[in-house]
Amino acid sequence: MASPRPVPLQWELQIMSTAPTTGPHAAVSGLQWGDEGKGKVVDLLTRRYDYIVRYNGGANAGHSVVIGDQRYALHLIPSGILHEGKINVIGNGVVVDPAQLISEMDTLAQRGIDIGDNLRLSTRAHLVLPYHKLQDALMEAAVSASRGEHKAIGTTGRGIGPAYADKMHRSTGLRAGDLLDPERFADKLKHVVALKNAMLGATADLAGAEFEPIDADELTEAYLGYGEVLASHICDTQHLLHTGMADGKKLLFEGANGCMLDIDHGTYPYVTSSNCGAVGIYAGSGVPGGTVGRTVGIMKAYTTRVGAGPFATELDDEVGQRIRDRGNEYGTTTGRPRRCGWLDLAVVKYTAAVNGVTELSLMLLDVLAGFDTLKVCVGYELDGKAVEGFPSSSVEYERVTPVYEQVPGFADEVTDCEDYDHLPGAAKQYVELIEQHVGLPVSIVSVGPARNQTMIREAHAPVSA
Ligand code: IMP
Repeated sequence: MASPRPVPLQWELQIMSTAPTTGPHAAVSGLQWGDEGKGKVVDLLTRRYDYIVRYNGGANAGHSVVIGDQRYALHLIPSGILHEGKINVIGNGVVVDPAQLISEMDTLAQRGIDIGDNLRLSTRAHLVLPYHKLQDALMEAAVSASRGEHKAIGTTGRGIGPAYADKMHRSTGLRAGDLLDPERFADKLKHVVALKNAMLGATADLAGAEFEPIDADELTEAYLGYGEVLASHICDTQHLLHTGMADGKKLLFEGANGCMLDIDHGTYPYVTSSNCGAVGIYAGSGVPGGTVGRTVGIMKAYTTRVGAGPFATELDDEVGQRIRDRGNEYGTTTGRPRRCGWLDLAVVKYTAAVNGVTELSLMLLDVLAGFDTLKVCVGYELDGKAVEGFPSSSVEYERVTPVYEQVPGFADEVTDCEDYDHLPGAAKQYVELIEQHVGLPVSIVSVGPARNQTMIREAHAPVSA
């Protein structure tokens, strides 16, 4: 009798990866370096789900949603807050700056959005404190001073890395649930502030920067004040989600940042400090692996990146500037101009595979109208040889040469197009090229920020969750 084969053959792998998944829950994941337009897709899908869950990142993310003539910029609150009757969960994997959260809640309330039981914050979510933001800025300055500006990460300055580092240090981490026990919170914060003042003072010396020590009492008072405002929202969200699932409720996970910024699978060290992709859902919310059946991968029709780090298809010329201007590519969180480049399908294919994406949502196709020809990167070469897989080292990635396919552009504006069949032929060809190279269907095509500037190709969504 022949012995069993331990490794599946290629065709078996293909069948396994295209087998329909049936889980009732879904996820939205950004497949590039963030800012892909996830907020809009979450908003479109929300009506089918009961709980909208953030599981990673913090106020470094910026999700904009346009409803009618109103634009909402959300950083910490899930986009589902704009819909009535949905429960919006900030899971344990998020790092929360309570001052930012309260300001977002106030802004939404002033615009007539109800904030009550529909917003829940995990007791286990770690807090961002002002010393995290200081540490973020001083570390960047110290690295720039000693190794040159290009070695700094180019963070958003929101204290994200230092807050996650304290979570891992444990003895210096503070969680939202700690705000509910003022005495214990005050006691721990006093010790942490003493430590931080010593560390930050030394880092400031290296950076050649001024440093004013933090006053533990003032900080404690401010944070306990935030705790009072947030108390009614803080709960065990893991239990909430499990109870919801047992009651037949459907969950939609809203990824923040983008998979190329994932701490493990992105272009390390030029990444953020969490698992941004679908891999982060389980750790960041406490639901069991396999919960998600439908994963919508969000991609722009071109590529952008903010901050430092390699970017193979970057256009540092008038073509890049044209994309930046037409796409209004300036950060929602920091206002920084985004770096722009041609669509990189080597990136999308890689992130779609890592995240188990089941369908693609193509955003900002309208930005590419008016080009005679378009270039799409379909792979890389390194030292004259085709690169297999995706380089795991940024140093190696920096050296790759993109292999481009040149395709015809489309002259006509497409912002008013409501039916996929009415898109110019070259625009449809562009969509099909993506499907062919990534091996996944494009089920949503977006041609503008408004809800009605979206073509949903129902028949192309393999999973109907
Ligand atoms: P941090 O998350 O602030 O530590 O920044 C680390 C890197 O991730 C920097 O290059 C940021 O510009 C980038 N980054 C973090 N969040 C986002 C996002 O939501 N969109 C785009 N870039 C982001």
